[in-house]
Amino acid sequence: MKPARDYIIFPLDVPSIDEAKQYVELLADDVGMFKVGLELFIQAGPEIVKFIHAAGSTGIFLDLKLHDIPQTVSRATGRVADLGVAFITVHCGESRRMLEAAVDGSQGKVGVLGVTVLTSVSAADIQAAGFRSDFHSDLSRLVLQRAEMAKSAGCAGIICSGLEARAIKANFGPDFVAVTPGIRPLWSVTEGDDQQRITTPAQAIADGSDYLVIGRPIRDAEDPKEAVKQIIQEIESVI
Ligand code: C5P
Repeated sequence: MKPARDYIIFPLDVPSIDEAKQYVELLADDVGMFKVGLELFIQAGPEIVKFIHAAGSTGIFLDLKLHDIPQTVSRATGRVADLGVAFITVHCGESRRMLEAAVDGSQGKVGVLGVTVLTSVSAADIQAAGFRSDFHSDLSRLVLQRAEMAKSAGCAGIICSGLEARAIKANFGPDFVAVTPGIRPLWSVTEGDDQQRITTPAQAIADGSDYLVIGRPIRDAEDPKEAVKQIIQEIESVI
């Protein structure tokens, strides 16, 4: 069984490389992985990836949420393959070919994760976007359909909410990685929160999540290190 800290992915959702470096130095011994998303990668590029590598053994999740024609996506994951990161994200979207291209481009050097349905998306959003009624009456159906596409394309796993983790594990087995954002410890208060499908760390782990993306509850805490400590205790209570 992996230690509790290895379940935690902290997103470096900050606008500057200097702020990102401060969080890396502060939390490198406390979390399992740092997530570099669009905001930081646009600002800092591969330099921040090199900095995290140099700071210790913490893994890196490059969350670029690619979505383009297969050739473009394949060429992009080909470049990511040489960065030494653990995971890259690609939207499941409409075509399995794009996911297959992402996996081909990755050359087995980085795990491709399919983004199923963003945790900020609600059933009302899916209805407004024109999806079939069985998808908006039960969002997990759409998540599972997209996960099936990702699995058959050779992806290492998917991003889903903690609410769907149990069904993902039941349908696709223990080795198909489930990464869950939208994590809110009971003590966290995130004003104007855009997350819709949320779970606590304990619930997500109990339901089979392999990794929890936890951002604002740590980043905006008065003491981020103490917030991580509390989350680790909560995870330890269920593993
Ligand atoms: O915990 P918090 O809501 O602050 O986490 C936000 C992070 O989770 C962002 O980096 C966002 O990109 C990521 N996220 C994700 N997939 C989703 C929803 C959010 O990777 N479905």
